[in-house]
Amino acid sequence: MKTILVVFGTRPETIKIAPLILKAKADKRFNFLVCSTGQHREMIKPLFDFFGIKPDFDLDLMKPGQTLVDISMGVMKGLNEILAQHKVDGVIVQGDTTSCFIASMVSFYHRIPVIHVEAGLRSGDIESPFPEEFNRLATGLVAKLHFAPTEGAKNNLLREHYSADSVFVTGNTGIDALFEVKKKLAETPDLARSFQKQFSFLNPDKKLVLSTVHRRESFGGPMEEVMKGLVALSEREDLEILIPLHMNPQVRKSAEKIFGNQATWVQNAANAPAGNKIWLCEPVDYVPFVYLMDRAHLIVTDSGGVQEEAPSLAKPILVAREKTERPEAIAAGTSKLIPLEEKAFLKTVLEVLDTKEIYNQMSQAKNPFGDGKAAERILDIMAEKL
Ligand code: UD1
Ligand code: UDP
Repeated sequence: MKTILVVFGTRPETIKIAPLILKAKADKRFNFLVCSTGQHREMIKPLFDFFGIKPDFDLDLMKPGQTLVDISMGVMKGLNEILAQHKVDGVIVQGDTTSCFIASMVSFYHRIPVIHVEAGLRSGDIESPFPEEFNRLATGLVAKLHFAPTEGAKNNLLREHYSADSVFVTGNTGIDALFEVKKKLAETPDLARSFQKQFSFLNPDKKLVLSTVHRRESFGGPMEEVMKGLVALSEREDLEILIPLHMNPQVRKSAEKIFGNQATWVQNAANAPAGNKIWLCEPVDYVPFVYLMDRAHLIVTDSGGVQEEAPSLAKPILVAREKTERPEAIAAGTSKLIPLEEKAFLKTVLEVLDTKEIYNQMSQAKNPFGDGKAAERILDIMAEKL
């Protein structure tokens, strides 16, 4: 039986790796060990509870306002000790975070095969997303198996001369997770009712615009232009805007500067004043966030994961980035890049909101990122190839 260690640390990695952990823990072909770097803390704790994940190792690294170098040094030291003490036949990493890249490098130094889940995404610009484009290029260099979510991602890897028998198209495990949550919401009407209560400050007669921003390359000016665009959009009477704020202090600083007293920070629906146009809140747990995406009329985001999820929920998505490494949703017609300048931003949102043909065309339930079976494909290929 092969001993496999999976290493991850942020919210999106936890969501996307959870379906694989749950399946692998029940799979007799593997002894599966779980290591959380703790790159994130509050944003992953509820995910461990929801998916029932108990890490075998927790590096507990998060520090408020940490630098990329702080995280890197912590993952290097912590994982080095684990790999020195335990015999491991393979290390799985997911995506493009600093936890992912550093874990892949440490494993390579230990001469342990690296397995890269969500491999082959490319924006073509090493500065954007920063530092994620570099992280996934570098992880690819040391990976023995590359699990690409789409044919496009596979082709990116083949163009970089990775051998065809190391690259497999599996779909994105994030879609496996989303399907689980959708099933749970459909089977448990009480859950949807509890979220209606949690978000009862929202006006059911208004269209909901749901927005999240957190990219490092947009910190300061570009992110603030998007926020100004949202303020301008909030003048419309037919909609309201909810922004679950990422915990990165840089995001909070810009939000405070731009939204000021034009937004209401909502902690408790019962105490929320009526009639607000922009609501800010703490990051929402994953299941209620899926409920919110489903309830939204339009989603404006720079998130990678949300770009992949929204097409399954038939929601138009405007991507607040200059480039995306997920062009499949644009090609499928469900998403559009949106300029990071207030006036051009507003013009694009209004065009989508007010042009029925564009809105309807973007609201198709057509998901190019997966079919909910990525985790089982990955485990079968790993069992054969390792
Ligand atoms: C990281 C990833 C990014 C991913 C994002 C998902 C890197 C380089 N970046 O960016 O790819 O898209 O996570 O959210 O790996 N914080 C908390 N509690 C939490 C999480 C974060 O307080 O649970 C605050 C802390 O002050 C922390 C800061 O946010 O220092 C930044 O977190 P960090 O992981 O360094 O970067 P992200 O911007 O979240
Ligand atoms: N998400 C969440 N709560 C929020 C915002 C996002 O649970 O308040 C989920 C979202 O559904 C997706 C993931 O977090 O699965 C995306 O994480 P994030 O945007 O932080 O990172 P990225 O995908 O950009 O790397």
